Amino acid sequence: MSASALHPDTQVLHGAFKPEAETGATAAPIFQTASFAYATAEELEAVFAGREPGYVYSRISNPTVTQFERRMTVLENGFGALACASGMAAISATVLALAGTGDEIVSGNSIFGGTYSLFHQTLSRTGITTRFVEATDVKAYRQAITDRTKLIFVESIGNPKLDVPDLAAIAAVAREKGVVLVVDNTLPTPLLLQPKTLGADIVIHSTSKFINGHGNAIGGIIIDSGTFDWSNPRYVHLNPFYKRAREMAFLACLRNQICRDLGACLSPFNAFLMSIGVESLGVRMERHCANAAQVARFLADHPRVRGVRYPGLANHPDHAVALRQFAGRYGAVVTLRLDNKAQCFRFINGLKLAQNLANLGDARTLVIHPASTFCRDLSDAERSAVGVSDDLVRLSVGIEHVADLIADLEQSLEGLR
Ligand SMILES: Cc1ncc(COP(=O)(O)O)c(C=O)c1O
Repeated sequence: MSASALHPDTQVLHGAFKPEAETGATAAPIFQTASFAYATAEELEAVFAGREPGYVYSRISNPTVTQFERRMTVLENGFGALACASGMAAISATVLALAGTGDEIVSGNSIFGGTYSLFHQTLSRTGITTRFVEATDVKAYRQAITDRTKLIFVESIGNPKLDVPDLAAIAAVAREKGVVLVVDNTLPTPLLLQPKTLGADIVIHSTSKFINGHGNAIGGIIIDSGTFDWSNPRYVHLNPFYKRAREMAFLACLRNQICRDLGACLSPFNAFLMSIGVESLGVRMERHCANAAQVARFLADHPRVRGVRYPGLANHPDHAVALRQFAGRYGAVVTLRLDNKAQCFRFINGLKLAQNLANLGDARTLVIHPASTFCRDLSDAERSAVGVSDDLVRLSVGIEHVADLIADLEQSLEGLR
């Protein structure tokens, strides 16, 4: 049975799984090695030259990492993948494989604060300019594209604004203009949405979140959907890779140049943890989404809460798009607004189950005050673009029993006055 014929809940377990050839081990062996030895100089030369397949050095590739890349390729119905040391490394490498000095990115404005800072601060110093547009305004993407645009970047659910751009409409603009569409699919995961089905050319995940699911490793992945023609003259710098690798050109550029040179590779041990974590993604997402929906409804009805955002609530501005794109499941992240920053801090400090930390997508419920933490380096205007205000709290709803979660939220809200 082909992997693509399986339901995603089955793919997470069986999609790319083969027992290890030599011993039959059912857990991916951890090839904790820096390098790979060859009997002769001729053999090593042939592998270096790409005439023979083989592993050379774990900064470039490693069998445990390959296993994880294959699992993610199946889940996103992609053509191939490359794993990185973090979600930020995956985004940085993708941009650097597509763009250089003088080039431009068109990005939705409601993106993770770290990505915003990468685009706005770090990459602008290398001469790559980002034009930020209202993430859900499809016309704005078209208007912002110029001859120098090398990618459109968008999050399938914005973190932490939780807006839901219409990906099919943005993909139509990208196709019309011949520009690569890159989608950060971290919040929905492939269990809720495969961005390729809506026209995304490249899909990125911070696998530190739901893919891993247990908050025990940092990682990222880049998946090529196999939909973009890499001989497109807009990407003339990829020509040498296209000549050698044809449709693999983008992945070849990533692996053999960008990631090799930047060095932000995923460690074999972290790839092992990701591979184990992703096996339970199906059941975890089911529980995450069901719990989050109940938590969102509870908060929306609570008199001390001034506002709740969750794409599954009928009053969410993008609810109709979310309904279409995610088929009735809306992820685990919910935000709420209280009277002010002091009340947010009291609320967070009063929680007994939810852990106050900078992550999301853990099996446990997590809570954070974005304005004073991962968005603290943004200006007021930037914070408001990414949907963050002083009175906002973000919850990543875990897979605990929902009655315990609601009791915890309730007792902390009752303590506010
Ligand atoms: C949507 C999104 N993309 C990317 C990242 C960056 O990932 P990492 O922390 O693995 O570098 C994050 C981190 O929170 C995120 O939320």
